[in-house]
Formats: sequence, structure tokens, C-alpha cells
Amino acid sequence: MDLDPGTAAPRYQSGFGNEFSSEALPGALPAGRNSPQKAPYGLYAEQFSGTAFTVPRSEARRTWLYRIRPSALHPRFEPLARQVQGGPLAEPTPNRLRWDPLPMSTAPTDFLDGWVVMAANAPADAPSGTSLYHYAANRDMTRVFYNADGELLLVPEQGRLRLLTELGVLDIEPLEIAVIPRGLKFSVALPDGNARGYLAENHGAPLRLPDLGPIGSNGLANPRDFLAPVAHYQDSSAPVALVQKFLGRLWGCELQHSPLDVVAWHGNNVPYKYDLRLFNTLGTVSYDHPDPSIFTVLTSPSSVHGMANMDFVIFPPRWMVADNTFRPPWFHRNLMNEYMGLIQGAYDAKAEGFVPGGASLHSCMSAHGPDAETCARAVAAELAPVRIEQTMAFMFETSQVLRPSRHALACEQLQQRYDACWASLPSTFNPNRRDA
Ligand SMILES: [Fe+2]
Repeated sequence: MDLDPGTAAPRYQSGFGNEFSSEALPGALPAGRNSPQKAPYGLYAEQFSGTAFTVPRSEARRTWLYRIRPSALHPRFEPLARQVQGGPLAEPTPNRLRWDPLPMSTAPTDFLDGWVVMAANAPADAPSGTSLYHYAANRDMTRVFYNADGELLLVPEQGRLRLLTELGVLDIEPLEIAVIPRGLKFSVALPDGNARGYLAENHGAPLRLPDLGPIGSNGLANPRDFLAPVAHYQDSSAPVALVQKFLGRLWGCELQHSPLDVVAWHGNNVPYKYDLRLFNTLGTVSYDHPDPSIFTVLTSPSSVHGMANMDFVIFPPRWMVADNTFRPPWFHRNLMNEYMGLIQGAYDAKAEGFVPGGASLHSCMSAHGPDAETCARAVAAELAPVRIEQTMAFMFETSQVLRPSRHALACEQLQQRYDACWASLPSTFNPNRRDA
């Protein structure tokens, strides 16, 4: 069935983690009760929980849905013949890896068929962990999907996405992101016909805004810039396929109604979008290149305080003004594991080889940093204020080692000579000249 309502630009409500509410018909939200004996308009009440009931109140995510038919109304799920491409995982490798972009598909490929798993660090039923995918698609979905395995962070690199969710419609374009809660039903239309990008599947604690510490009460991603949808429902008896991903496998069944039939809802377990161009980027105004944690947009904490299950970090356009400083990211070896992608432009640590749609993986303690050309340029640079323009790199940073998929290690997009970008770094050491 055609799931796209074809409406003009969707409407949104702003904020992060709020108790949002929305109704597509006046009075559809019950007053004073979550599950009254009879919900308005003959709707069914259904609770949609994203966290265990007994987590601290500040962590709890749940939304009450008032819908035409309850989600329980479905037949048996059967495994699909076509599963997510790219798996299973390969043996872990300590090597630095980099990939060219996935080719755009030529065969008809919807958003779900277009997923390719690139790396993961835990099974989907572990209480923390992340799986990372690239996607490339060229057809609207005519089916509806939900992911029992985790929350989804969508990072488009090419092509807009129209996300038709149970709670309403979200439109995103490259330089915007969206987050879909675990289990929320949705479908994806491609207004531009083609789309490509990145997906992080978060099996752990839901993404949230990072604490700001000494930064204070403003800065980084501001809560008011996050947008949740408003209620939008379909009342249809046309058959539609419902697909779920459950412990990594796709299962499907056929419904005789649209599952996007929520007429009203209230709660904080919601899909949302964010425009990365609104990020309030902070940096030094004196010297040294600060740690990239100041670029954190969203974080999923782990059970170890301060050590994220996954951080989503961006490197947006910004001024570089540091005095007497090697301005690109320094050479480093980290505890955390860094999977990077590029949405547009160039990344300031790499002269070539890291292009929009591509990716790199630097695992725990793997040594990396600017390539030889960038290093030479940075050492020789005149340190006037410089604005880095037309760029948006990002990083999925995880505390558990990411294992590449077999596809990621076998595909022709894997660059065989990535190590060579550091191979020509010269020794410039001179024990007789301190100011060499
Ligand atoms: Fe790094």
C-alpha cells in the first residue's frame, strides 16, 4: 500500500525528553487517565515502553498510544527470505580500516533491503552495545518495520528521508539526523528517489543529551532544537507487510490494516530529528586542540560513569584560532573505538581518501591521527584564524571493540593501502636544534 500521506511539510513539537502530547482529532487524548474504560472515539489504549518500568524516573521512556487497532492484532511472524546484508561478523582485527562509499543500488531496493552491516560490538540481546550499518536505497518502502533490537540513529549522507512513524511524520535531509525508538513502527519514503547514509543501532541505554559540566546551561546541541512529530494516522484496511528485526533476523507477517493508526499519544518515548547545523560548537580560544568529547551531540551511557556505550560526535564548520598549536586532531591512541563517517566536504585530519559516504574504523589503542600531508601542512601553517567551511564529519564512538562484518573486510570498498597515508611521515628529529 502507499503509506506516504503526501502531505506538505510535517509539523513538529520542540524539546528533548519532554512529556509530549499530540492528537489528530480534538479530544482524542483521554483526560486524567492513561487507560480509561472507554477511550475517546472508540480507540484502543496501548502503552509503548522503551525502558524497564522500574528504572529511575529521569531515565524512564514510555508513551501512551490511542490507536484504531491494538498492535496485538497481527498473525504469526515468519522468517523472511531476504535478511540484512553483510553479516555475520568476522574475526576482530586491530588494524586500521577505511572504506570508500557503498555504490548506489541499481536493483529495486527499499530502505530496509538497503542495509549492510559494517561492524558490531555485542549481540542484540546484550544490555549494551552497538551495531553499525550503511544504507543505500532507491525505492519507497511499501511495508512497515520495527526494530526489536535497538534504537536507530539515522545519518543521511545523500537524499532526503520521509519517516512515516506511528507517532507522526518526520522529514530529514543530509545534515539532519533522526532517532527512532526501539520497537516503534515506521516506514521510509525517498522523496529524492535515491538515498544513502549511515545507521547506528543502539542496543543499550537510549541516547540522550550529554551533561554539560563546567560548560554551563547552554551549548552543544540545545534541547529546543530537537523536533518530535505530531500525531498523524492512517485508517486503512489495505493489506500491508509488517517486518521486525529480532536478534538480528528479519521476520514478517501481513496485516489487513495500516499499523500507522495512532490517532493521539502522549509520552517521552518518541522519534525525533535534529539539524546538525544548529550545533553550538565550542573550541579553544587560547591553545591546544581539545578532546572531541566537546563535539558530542548525543550519548548512550554505559554502566561505567563517563564511559559511553556510544557517543554520536560531529565535526562541523567552525573557527580554528588556537595560538602556537598543532591544530588538526593530534596523533593519538584511545581506549574508545572510533567509527567515522563523512556527510559532506572534507575532514580536517585527512587530505584524501576519506570521502562523503565512506567510513573508517580505529579500534581500541590503534594509533592514528592526521595523514602525512595534513601533518606537514599543519606544522608549516601560519596561525591566523581560519574558518573550516563546508564540512560535516561524525563519529560513532563506542567503549566496546567493534568487530567488522565479513562484508566489511571482503568488499571492494575496503581500502587496501590505508596504512600508507602515514607511511611517509618523516623523522624531523634533530638533537642539535631544539627549534628545528
Ligand atoms: Fe581518533
